[in-house]
Amino acid sequence: MKFEIRQMTLAQSQTAPQDALVVLWPDGAEHQGPMGDWVRKARQNGDFKDAAGTMLQSYGMPGVRARHLLVVACGQGQPRDLRKAMRAAWGALQPAKVKSLAICWAGGALSPQAIEAVLTTLADASYAYVSTLSKPQPRTLAQVVLSLTHVTQADKTAVHKAQALVRGTELAREWANRPANHATPNHLALAAKALGKHPGVSCKVLGPREVERLGMGSFLAVARGAAEPLRFIVLEYKSAKAKGAPVVLVGKGITFDTGGISMKPAAEMDEMKFDMSGAASVLGVFESLAALQPALHVMGLIPATENMPDGMAVKPGDVVTSMSGQTIEILNTDAEGRLVLCDALTYAERFKPKAVIDIATLTGACVIALGAVRSGLFSADDALAQALLDAGEQSGDLCWRMPLDDDYAEGLKSKFADMANVAGRAAGSVTAAKFLQKFAGKMPWAHLDIAGTAWRSGAQKGATGRPVALLLEYLLAQAPSATASGKRKSA
Ligand code: BES
Ligand code: MN
Ligand code: ZN
Repeated sequence: MKFEIRQMTLAQSQTAPQDALVVLWPDGAEHQGPMGDWVRKARQNGDFKDAAGTMLQSYGMPGVRARHLLVVACGQGQPRDLRKAMRAAWGALQPAKVKSLAICWAGGALSPQAIEAVLTTLADASYAYVSTLSKPQPRTLAQVVLSLTHVTQADKTAVHKAQALVRGTELAREWANRPANHATPNHLALAAKALGKHPGVSCKVLGPREVERLGMGSFLAVARGAAEPLRFIVLEYKSAKAKGAPVVLVGKGITFDTGGISMKPAAEMDEMKFDMSGAASVLGVFESLAALQPALHVMGLIPATENMPDGMAVKPGDVVTSMSGQTIEILNTDAEGRLVLCDALTYAERFKPKAVIDIATLTGACVIALGAVRSGLFSADDALAQALLDAGEQSGDLCWRMPLDDDYAEGLKSKFADMANVAGRAAGSVTAAKFLQKFAGKMPWAHLDIAGTAWRSGAQKGATGRPVALLLEYLLAQAPSATASGKRKSA
């Protein structure tokens, strides 16, 4: 899907050659001409209300070149309102299978965040998973032209950024959605290798022997039950203009989580194909970085394996030695995410990172705590936590800071090892984070628990691509040069 931006008035947009025209109408806006009269009349009759998402629809309206015309109310043009308006507009247009779409903003200036919100929401709503369907119905929408009465450089930058973000988010959704037999650790490694072909990106993949040589006893313990061989993926994006230490992203890559010997119940177990959503988000971020080429240095680490029950599988009570040298009593083999992440965190130390952020569908407890609205954010570093919270607000990909008091680590004590891998049921997402913190050492570290936000269940089942938007926003804010977000900060 390709985005463009053009300078056009509302009158000019009526001659746009696209299949459909969506006019985003801010509350109270008045315009001369037939379209303005149309809206005024509908308003007087109470048929067009100032509430984001209300719509007027017409087909083949005289004076409008597009076959489909939609006028959508969108509040004051805040990103939140625009997301609602675009979602409603796409809901109405979807059956028409349009190939091209013109969007006209009928108000004054639009902020870069608002532009991004319009385009990313449209992409999000029109995405369709197809890769394992025998008769795929691919998305027809290929071209989107946004028109504003005055187009600035910042507007163009916002469109460019939205385009890159959509590419990254869709790559993340694609990999997270793929069934576990189509998204094995090796498949993920091949996807990462493909990213390594982009300028500035390189990729190295380690297999079981190399991981053993590194002493990743905790990661290896999880992989013991799996017939599919594990992969440890190391991605690097480095711009020639980048200075200083890298940011390291670590994505949980459990391609299927049965729970292992501590097996999960059957109901909804299929959703554990999404347990590599953290890994998918790392792949997505690298896709976006490759498209934008910002002045940054970013590493991506993905410990990838299945968590399976088997004669060789790790058993409750087994004690393993992590790469850090700390020993772990594995009381519950279903708490496997932390076991693969802890060795990846130790591996991250060699890069002397300015920040390490792990992204994981880590705990059901986080779904209970925060639901599908905000991801859980854990960090003892106030500056890093604030930067991630800000990135969430800017991008609309929200997170919420959770506590890390040392008292929460009490339950992780073990008689047979330096620590256990689980504590009690209470505050499960926090005790999981406390476990990870023991492996972050002195590095500035943050953990995003995306168990509630990475995918939707039920009729809408599917990956969301979160938190690619949050991570990209955070990273671009770290880039010294004039990226979209850098400019926005200083404006
Ligand atoms: N991948 C799951 C977490 C999960 C569960 C995410 C449900 C989304 C929905 C993770 O590996 C897990 O099984 N966690 C356990 C930890 C427990 C054994 C301490 C959990 O949350 O039940
Ligand atoms: Mn598990
Ligand atoms: Zn898991």
